[in-house]
Amino acid sequence: MKRIILTWLLLIFILLLVIGLTSRLGWWPVSATAVPPRWESKLAQAALQASLSRQAAGLTNPLSPSNEILMAGLKSFKMNCAGCHGVPGQPSQWGTRNFYPRVPQFADNPPHLSAPQMFVAIKHGIRYSGMGGWDGMMTDEEIWKVATFLERIGSLPAEVKTNWKAAQ
Ligand code: HEC
Repeated sequence: MKRIILTWLLLIFILLLVIGLTSRLGWWPVSATAVPPRWESKLAQAALQASLSRQAAGLTNPLSPSNEILMAGLKSFKMNCAGCHGVPGQPSQWGTRNFYPRVPQFADNPPHLSAPQMFVAIKHGIRYSGMGGWDGMMTDEEIWKVATFLERIGSLPAEVKTNWKAAQ
């Protein structure tokens, strides 16, 4: 029993040593133009989803998705977010090629997140990605508006949809 524990401890020590050494030797890739491997994207996405769900527990969206709120969210998205996240028919060139991980293009792939989960992501950003936090740049109300718009982006009422489709 003692031997097994010692062997495991040794293996963990060697693993930590390899991680420490290879990172110090500059062997870890850091370029953002590289294509993220599938396993890494899946692992990171699962961790992101779990963390956002945990942080958003107990948060409720104070706004109802009226046309006025959705239009305000759309406007804010066009102004602050579209440069990376794109608009219908015009994905962001920068976002789809030069970010690691790539920036999701919400017109083609609506986010699979609730408004409270997006509120957390927008307000505090996402570590080790190009998604900065908007805390201090947008008020909480503005953040809720854009999160409400994004939650409905795949099922917008006709009037708002017309504006979104013509958003280029
Ligand atoms: C400089 C580029 C950039 C800008 C500007 C930007 N984002 Fe992001 N955003 C990203 C990147 C990169 C990711 C992917 C992060 C990841 O998957 O780990 C992301 C992810 C997200 C996510 C999570 C999506 C998901 O499905 O996991 C949301 C929600 C989001 N952004 C909303 C916004 C909103 C709203 C704005 C504007 C207020 C905005 N972003 C502005 C780069 C940007």
